[in-house]
Amino acid sequence: SVANIGVVGLAVMGSNLARNLASREGNTVAVFNRSRSRTDELVAEHPEAGFLPAYDYEEFAATLSKPRTAIIMVQAGKGTDAVIDELVQVFEPGDIIVDGGNALFTDTIRREKAVRETGINFVGAGISGGEEGALNGPSIMPGGSDESWVTLGPILRSIAAVAEGEPCVTHVGHDGAGHFVKMVHNGIEYADMQLIAEAYDLIRRGTGKSPAEIADIFAQWNKGELESYLIEITAEVLRQVDAETGTPLVDVILDQAGAKGTGAWTVQTALDLGIPVSGIAEAVFARSLSSKPAQRAAASDLPGPSESWKVSDPDAFVEDVRKALYASKIVAYSQGFDEIVAGAQQYGWDIKKGDIAAIWRGGCIIRAQFLNRITEAYAEDAGLVALLTAPYFREALGRTQEAWRRVVVTAAQAGIPSPAFSSSLAYYDGLRADRLPAALVQGQRDFFGAHTYKRVDKDGVFHTLWSGDRSEIETEPSTH
Ligand code: 6PG
Repeated sequence: SVANIGVVGLAVMGSNLARNLASREGNTVAVFNRSRSRTDELVAEHPEAGFLPAYDYEEFAATLSKPRTAIIMVQAGKGTDAVIDELVQVFEPGDIIVDGGNALFTDTIRREKAVRETGINFVGAGISGGEEGALNGPSIMPGGSDESWVTLGPILRSIAAVAEGEPCVTHVGHDGAGHFVKMVHNGIEYADMQLIAEAYDLIRRGTGKSPAEIADIFAQWNKGELESYLIEITAEVLRQVDAETGTPLVDVILDQAGAKGTGAWTVQTALDLGIPVSGIAEAVFARSLSSKPAQRAAASDLPGPSESWKVSDPDAFVEDVRKALYASKIVAYSQGFDEIVAGAQQYGWDIKKGDIAAIWRGGCIIRAQFLNRITEAYAEDAGLVALLTAPYFREALGRTQEAWRRVVVTAAQAGIPSPAFSSSLAYYDGLRADRLPAALVQGQRDFFGAHTYKRVDKDGVFHTLWSGDRSEIETEPSTH
């Protein structure tokens, strides 16, 4: 018998994806894992899936119908290269190798180029939604060639999450485009999580409400414009009570946030592209700061505000925080989409921004109501230069910005860190400023390095003779 799709790597994500594939009409799934026991275990546990097990790469290839299509679900990095090397040996031109892990998009570009030499298609596909999503329907962000999409499209559509009747998958763009977009998705995920965490912290410390009470607030928020998976699960996490101590679980979890690197990649890439993803960067740095126990202990007796702080009108404060969260979230998405636009330009991808927002509506970690507004914004104006200037977001920022300012002021006065809230507000005010002190920075650069400047009133490049008579000369641009 033959399979139309195979999965290599049967840890939780791989086996769940294989089960998802097998459960859809028309799919027969070959499975292969480095250790034979894991393959046997999965096949025995899920007889309903009708898996076709393979125990070496030759057998795996022989089990697949042509064009052979295999999804690799192994830990990103060297393991992926090793599996690709093996598959390339047993696959033929026209076959398709899909990497469904969280690979760095530049690795995907490199791999796609190398594999293409053999005539085999290599597709980097971002898959979001964790274990649950892999099993029941993830959001999928595939890159790769148009040829591979002909075969892969129907298969991925069959297993993707469905949002408002549409499968959460689209051909994002060529080579590394899928993994690039998945990376930015994760950066936005980091920002969204940090913003929600700051909202929780401010409400808790400002009003003295318990985690369970704050869970109710988040559950309420989840009925409005903030409706999203992350708000929903936050309420559940806050409601959880530790069985051992009887206290809220959130109070016994060590307050040092981990990270596997995709958020940092988003920021590193943004720095290279010159895109200010400040909200995402603050979210990544907030995790780093939390994970520095020695520095935190050494700094714990540094002075803070002299007066202790409680808000006078808790309900009004909670509503202000909700608005600050919404406004900051708009900034995070706007910055993320700026990075997608810049990446598409840099790497020559034709990425449809509205389609990306649409496939994030279901299955993935950042799924949210709000994404429909982004799709609409790009449908109205595909060349939108900054998402936050689209009519809907303009209106939303207009009605939230004063509350946002009050929250940031209050947080600063109370000594409560709100890096994502405050940096997002600074970004907003920076973008809308008439004049920026960047003019002074240009003056400084010209003073110490003759880096030159342009003028507001005439064309050309200028330099002031700072160490001479301080007259201005017109010059060629400095190469520094
Ligand atoms: C997803 C997630 C998933 C994972 C990330 C973030 O979209 O399903 O983003 O890929 O949770 O790797 O993990 P860290 O928070 O550990 O970096």
